[in-house]
Amino acid sequence: MGTKLISISSQKGGVGKSTFTTLLASILYYEKGFNVAVIDCDYPQFSIKKQREREKKQIMSIASFNQMAQSQFERLQKKPYPVFSCESPDILGFAEEVLNKSSVTYDYIFFDFPGTVNSEHIVKAIKGMDYLFIPMEAERKVMESTLEFAFTLSELFKKSGKSDNIYLFWNKVDKREKNNLYEKYDIEVIKPLKLRVMEHYFPASSKFKKEIEEDARFVFNSTFFPAMKAATKGTSINLEGFTEELLTYIDSTYDKRGLQEKVLEEAV
Ligand SMILES: Nc1ncnc2c1ncn2[C@@H]1O[C@H](COP(=O)(O)OP(=O)(O)O)[C@@H](O)[C@H]1O
Ligand SMILES: [Mg+2]
Repeated sequence: MGTKLISISSQKGGVGKSTFTTLLASILYYEKGFNVAVIDCDYPQFSIKKQREREKKQIMSIASFNQMAQSQFERLQKKPYPVFSCESPDILGFAEEVLNKSSVTYDYIFFDFPGTVNSEHIVKAIKGMDYLFIPMEAERKVMESTLEFAFTLSELFKKSGKSDNIYLFWNKVDKREKNNLYEKYDIEVIKPLKLRVMEHYFPASSKFKKEIEEDARFVFNSTFFPAMKAATKGTSINLEGFTEELLTYIDSTYDKRGLQEKVLEEAV
């Protein structure tokens, strides 16, 4: 299938780029069995790289996490996925080097870009992605600039002859407003621009801020573990559903594999 370059991207800061990069990389790697790497290009914050370092310390110092990491390693027979920080302006060149040096073939490389896409080298890297997923909030100003960003990139993707693999998704959705407002936006504003919106969306929830802490029972946002279903029980966060939907876009064989598994399960 070849390595696919993916970014949860936006010209806006604080919309969930880094959060969803981590959540998705972890679920695809630890749960779905894909080989994944993350390249953190958000100089100088490097928020994912720093999260990885924080977590490493937690895992070394807290027995329950240590044990969890150990048993995960034994079960999966693979170490945590690498998180690289890229300071070079030649981001695609950096990725190329990562690919060349690696002994494994990555299925997906996730790129976390800065919140402001005002420099040429970031635009160039974004244009080099195979897939873009763009978080969007139902706030007029955010929407206007996000749609402009998505539309411009979609035109650029088409112009460079590659498929228009750009998907918007709603984040921080206010439950009270879901349906009317969001559907209105979808139909009246987004569809006419020929942009696509994912079916799954995420509510605004304090869960997204939760990193691994003292309590190993409810891991959610982690670079070492996949989000646990128990962590979002009773909420409308459906990361599993979102991931399944995303996989139907980024992996053309995924549906079939799902079906095969079902057939096998039924045959047993
Ligand atoms: N659905 C959500 N509900 C509530 N908070 C969220 C949600 N998604 C992300 N956040 C929070 O918003 C903040 C910004 O997210 P982050 O992923 O760092 O954004 P970005 O990388 O786009 O700047 C973080 O504190 C994160 O926990
Ligand atoms: Mg970020």
